[in-house]
Formats: sequence, structure tokens, C-alpha cells
Amino acid sequence: MNHIKKIGFIAVALTLVFGLVGCSSDTEELKLTAQQEAEMSERLAPAGEIVLEKDVASAAPVASVSSGPRSGEDVFKTKCTACHSSGAAGAPKVGVAAAWADRIAQGMDTLYANAINGIRGMPAKGLCMDCSDDEMKAAVDYILDQN
Ligand code: HEC
Repeated sequence: MNHIKKIGFIAVALTLVFGLVGCSSDTEELKLTAQQEAEMSERLAPAGEIVLEKDVASAAPVASVSSGPRSGEDVFKTKCTACHSSGAAGAPKVGVAAAWADRIAQGMDTLYANAINGIRGMPAKGLCMDCSDDEMKAAVDYILDQN
């Protein structure tokens, strides 16, 4: 008896399922525009694929900003301005040509080297420990350009 009930139930369930499936495919035939199809395939694509594409697109400019050398202006404004704008610790002030004349007279190589290695109150690399030598030179050039 029990078996028969079960089989009957399954038969009803199957009829329902096939009925529904048949129904939906028969009555509505969807026509998607190219735009809708593209959107749908984006939604249906594996998450990793979409995230990867978007990441590559949006990460590219970020990567080039952080991996490329910073401009002298950037380095100055983030690392050197604390001392060289205020004259803190006796630092020669940016824009005050007289404060730099004697230093420039030493020659640019010496000036660069002192900025990189430090001299008296000037700490090595002006405390910008992740600055490359070229970034330091660019920052020195930027400072002298302001005179
Ligand atoms: C903590 C303060 C401080 C910071 C930050 C700092 N400087 Fe200096 N800097 C000084 C002082 C003080 C001197 C003067 C040293 C002396 O001649 O007695 C100086 C001197 C210099 C000189 C002249 C060196 C010479 O040969 O006369 C250059 C060039 C220079 N700094 C570049 C920079 C650059 C570029 C940065 C940023 C990356 C920077 N400094 C950040 C304090 C600082």
C-alpha cells in the first residue's frame, strides 16, 4: 500500500515539474537585445572572471602611480616640506634663494649626495627611507626650482 502511495506521489510531482517546465518554455519566448544578452552573460559568468577583469581595469592606474617614480614635487610636498617650508631645525627654506646660494655653489653632485646621505641637521634622505636616489634628486631639483 505504502509503495503505491509513494509512486503515486512521485508521479504527481513529476507531472507538476514537467508541466511547469513545459509551460514556461512554450508560452514565453524571450528575445533579448544584444545589450541584455551581454549583461546577462556578465551576471552569469563565474565571479572570479568578472572580478579579475574589473580589477585589472581599475587597478592599472593605481599600480602605475605607486610603482613609478614620484615627481620631485610629490616627494617635496610629502617628505621635505615639514622642514624646508618652515626652516625647522635650521633647514634652508624653499623659495629663499639666499639660503641656497652657498649650497648650490658646492656643485649639484655634492648637494644631491648630502640630501641622500644626510648632513648635520639634514637626515639621510630627509627621512624618506623609501625614496630612490632619483626621487631625491628630483626633490632637490624641485626645491631649487622654487628659488
Ligand atoms: C627633519 C627635517 C628635514 C627634512 C624632513 C628634510 N630636510 Fe633637508 N635639510 C634639513 C636641514 C636642517 C638642512 C641643513 C643642514 C645643514 O647644512 O646644517 C637641510 C639641508 C638640505 C639640503 C642642502 C644640503 C647641502 O649640501 O647643503 C638639501 C639639498 C636638502 N636638505 C634636501 C632635502 C630633501 C630633498 C628633503 C625631502 C626628501 C629634505 N631635505 C627633508 C632638514 C630637513
